[in-house]
Amino acid sequence: MNAEGSNSKGKKMGDFLFLSLAISGVLILSLIWRFFYAFWWRPMRLGKYLRDQGINGPPYRLVVGTIMEDTRLMNEAKLRPMDLSHAIVPRVIPFLYQTFKSYGIVTMILYEALRLYPPVVYTARCVAKTTKLGDITLPQGAQVTLPTLLMHHDPEVWGEDVEEFKPERFSEGVAQASKKQLVFFPFSWGPRVCIGQNFALIEAKVALAMILQHFTFELSPSYAHAPYTLITLQPQYGAQIILHRN
Ligand code: HEM
Repeated sequence: MNAEGSNSKGKKMGDFLFLSLAISGVLILSLIWRFFYAFWWRPMRLGKYLRDQGINGPPYRLVVGTIMEDTRLMNEAKLRPMDLSHAIVPRVIPFLYQTFKSYGIVTMILYEALRLYPPVVYTARCVAKTTKLGDITLPQGAQVTLPTLLMHHDPEVWGEDVEEFKPERFSEGVAQASKKQLVFFPFSWGPRVCIGQNFALIEAKVALAMILQHFTFELSPSYAHAPYTLITLQPQYGAQIILHRN
């Protein structure tokens, strides 16, 4: 092989090496960016978005979940068989269970939404036999109405800020939320209380967590605020929202 041939071979080799290095560099930079995006930029943006709406706390853990903690809790849960009971939530989804237990903010938000907009606006009962209720005697056959919507909007019970959306009023639990006595009946109360209330709340939390993992959302300008009842309370023209992919 002559000198010219070996020179061109060396040049090709050099080009190839340069190209490989450039591709590796781009790949490494993109990996570094992905890492920072997932563990720093994205949680920071989500955190800001939630904080702007008054939702404090560690939202990255709430919304996306910490993979390592999730795995640790899952492994721990798998090590111990549980008692013979139906309380399987902490064993099957320990991370979600712990999150919802410690960050009751979502519960508070759902409660406040259910206070201002209870899907069942009133419940009615027919008195089965003459009953004394405080100073009043209710005759058999009388109909008694529990006006949930009215009671949930009563300033004497909830204070002057009754028409404001303030989830923090539930921060000490349902019993402490209203001023005088417990007046929070979105699921009714007593022996005929809604049997689906826990299911409904968990379902809402899981749906919210799934949506917030991928999207942020805001109310669309086309939304017209027109709550009305068609059996349950609902938005008359629907609830249009704009989703933004995270
Ligand atoms: C946000 C969602 C929900 C709200 C606000 C709600 C509200 C209520 C209310 C106020 C009552 C009492 C009605 C009355 O006594 O006149 C009730 C009863 C009931 N709810 Fe719900 N509910 C919800 C979700 C669910 C779900 C998801 C289920 C089933 C999986 C369910 C099943 C029932 C049943 C079976 C009763 C009758 C209980 C009885 O009379 O003994 N509910 N609900």
